[in-house]
Amino acid sequence: MDDELTRIQQSLKTQLSAISSLKDLDALEIDILGRKGSVNLLFSKLKDEQPEQVREYGEKINSLKNHILQEISLKKHQLLESSEKSSWVDTTLPGNAPKPGSLHIVTQTIEDIRDIFSRLGFIHMSYPEVEWEYYAFDALNMPKSHPARDDFETFFVETPEHPTYGKMLLTPHTSSGQVREMLRVKTPPIRMTNISRTYRPNWDATHVPMFHQFEGLCIDKGINISHLKGAIEYFVQEFFGKECKIRLRPYDFLFTEPSFEVDIYTGSKNIGRAGWLELGGAGMVHPNVLKEGNIDSSIYTGWAFGFGIERIAMMRGGITIPDMRIMYSGDVRFLTQF
Ligand code: PHE
Repeated sequence: MDDELTRIQQSLKTQLSAISSLKDLDALEIDILGRKGSVNLLFSKLKDEQPEQVREYGEKINSLKNHILQEISLKKHQLLESSEKSSWVDTTLPGNAPKPGSLHIVTQTIEDIRDIFSRLGFIHMSYPEVEWEYYAFDALNMPKSHPARDDFETFFVETPEHPTYGKMLLTPHTSSGQVREMLRVKTPPIRMTNISRTYRPNWDATHVPMFHQFEGLCIDKGINISHLKGAIEYFVQEFFGKECKIRLRPYDFLFTEPSFEVDIYTGSKNIGRAGWLELGGAGMVHPNVLKEGNIDSSIYTGWAFGFGIERIAMMRGGITIPDMRIMYSGDVRFLTQF
């Protein structure tokens, strides 16, 4: 009798866990507790026991029966609950609104730059990111042997060299669009911005191998440094705010003469740090570069600048991230802030 009792109790567990519908549960209940069920069978076997044990076994069977009833009703609840969940919809609950996406901070900055320069009559051009050595360096007055080319630490593409244009590379700066634009327009005036991804093999907290630059190029009769200064000043005041000032520091790019580095100053807090901050390079287009673009430097002069986009985006947003690479990590905690 004892064996029988434990057998029923143990098999109940496995039987219940295998059940997934109310119908099966009803069938199991009949099997165990029904008129001809295993529990009743035990009761009928009582008469074979010793008279002094009948009472003890009777109580044991009853408590088993109660235990079975409890387990079955628990299972019934579980089954009912899960079937409600899947078939019943509360249409009065507020829905799950899809999270709106947003443009990346770099994309937003690019759009602002285009807007500002279009108000000055600049058109926007896109020039190749996979570029010939010629447009990236040689046409810009940077002879093959010149150590300045090392500064750009360029990614070269493994293709056969072109007899005129040399090796293929990932453009290390947007200046590679300068001579392309001169050759496209043929006769100035030229007023263009070239905004593009640029590549240099650096990977650390302050550098990513792919970043963005924007180039301004203006060529016409009688263009001089004051026009360069005026255009940059207009840009920074539109972009950062009216209180923003610029200064030009002498520098030595090969494709401009004279050359400058441009710093901006703002006392306002939203630029992260107060004080002068470097924006990028600029200068008057070198006569040799105009020559490569078939432009007569005795008639035309021009200026150019090239600034980093990530840098100005971060300055304007007052963003101080410990690692530049966060910008391109795709981390929504960063992205949703803009
Ligand atoms: N191409 C230069 C750089 O990447 C910047 C520059 C552009 C300087 C145009 C002068 C004129 O550093």
